[in-house]
Amino acid sequence: MDPEASLKALIAPSVLPADFARLGEECISLEKAGADRIHWDVMDGRFVPNLTFGPDVIASVRPLVALPFEAHLMVEDPHELAPRYAEAGCELLIVHVEACPHLHRTLGAIRELGMDAGVAINPATPASAVAHVLDLCRLVLVMTVNPGWGGQSYISSMESKVAEVRAMIDQSEHSHEVELEVDGGIGPSTIGGAARAGAGVFVAGSSVFSDEAGFGHAIGELRGAASAR
Ligand code: DX5
Ligand code: ZN
Repeated sequence: MDPEASLKALIAPSVLPADFARLGEECISLEKAGADRIHWDVMDGRFVPNLTFGPDVIASVRPLVALPFEAHLMVEDPHELAPRYAEAGCELLIVHVEACPHLHRTLGAIRELGMDAGVAINPATPASAVAHVLDLCRLVLVMTVNPGWGGQSYISSMESKVAEVRAMIDQSEHSHEVELEVDGGIGPSTIGGAARAGAGVFVAGSSVFSDEAGFGHAIGELRGAASAR
């Protein structure tokens, strides 16, 4: 990736570790702290065991901040649920390859709903799984943990896959329109490796919420570490 791209490292805090009793305030604080977007980890208790945000929860926060919302759907039936997350005000809907038998059709449906479409791949899924849908995607998400919980350890062996997807995007006709995101275990000590491999958007949950110096400090530190490569 060219040096200029490193300046564009985007930080997408996951609100999974937020105090849910103060979810709106937490999102307002993230916006003030300089986050680039809010990452909503939607889990249905089936695709992954955990159960999190329904569309009404997201809709209740939508009027409070101007930041773009991306919903990462870790659910078994993303195609069926997509309209609900469009109504909730999500700009970008990320679905898992592993949950979409008709991925091309699902991505088209998300775009028809007026959202950008993103595709996520689990650690065991090869980069080639996204090769024939890049023209429909605004973002590819390479998971750097197995989905389901926050606070897991970064899987550094995913960096070769990040580099593969980076090359695939750069060689496609859509290189300027497709972002490459990583999600899971991203903190000041891991973000550099993911950035060097070619990621440009970084989801971070625990590292942002556990920083005692506050969200602004955490986000600044992540940006600095992503650029210092
Ligand atoms: C994992 C989620 C992630 C994760 C991020 O299933 O998609 O967004 O919770 O949290 P940390 O940064 O704590 O790994
Ligand atoms: Zn996520």
